[in-house]
Amino acid sequence: MILPVYVFGQPVLRKVAEDITKEYTDLDKLLNDMHDTMYRAEGIGLAAPQIGLPIRLFIIDADPLKEDFPELEGFKKVFINARIVELSGKDVAYTEGCLSLPTIREEVKRPSKVRIKYMDANFVEHDEIYEGFGARIIQHEYDHIDGKLFVDHLNPLKRRLLKGRLNDVSKGNVDIAYRIKTAK
Ligand code: NI
Repeated sequence: MILPVYVFGQPVLRKVAEDITKEYTDLDKLLNDMHDTMYRAEGIGLAAPQIGLPIRLFIIDADPLKEDFPELEGFKKVFINARIVELSGKDVAYTEGCLSLPTIREEVKRPSKVRIKYMDANFVEHDEIYEGFGARIIQHEYDHIDGKLFVDHLNPLKRRLLKGRLNDVSKGNVDIAYRIKTAK
């Protein structure tokens, strides 16, 4: 089932999300719905707060980017109760977008390497290191479960220049091809 994507201005996007347990109700259905929603909106990642749930869960399927980033072929994962253990490497700048900030794209600097502990959809624990574009996607999605958005990484001047457009997004005044949910 395709769900509406919560956009800038929705308080749930600003909450530090909570861990879930194996007994979380209908987790399989939730994961299916999140994948349907992400694919419909042509995203490569989606975090639970973006569909209104303040829980530490995000999904990534970066396979569509494999032409530009061959290392992302088959990179499809579920991250539950994730904790970033370490960020390292050089800061790298790249233009990011976000389904919760439709039509806004800005250059964001992030460390090139991330070590993350998380559980997969079967609640098996992992402790992994990612580098390059995969590390960027993970950091972007991880921000969502900590109540952050990529515009938080911009300098104050850039944020000020974006104010009007962020206001438009929060009111739903954007021309996009997927369903969104504003705070009203
Ligand atoms: Ni995002």
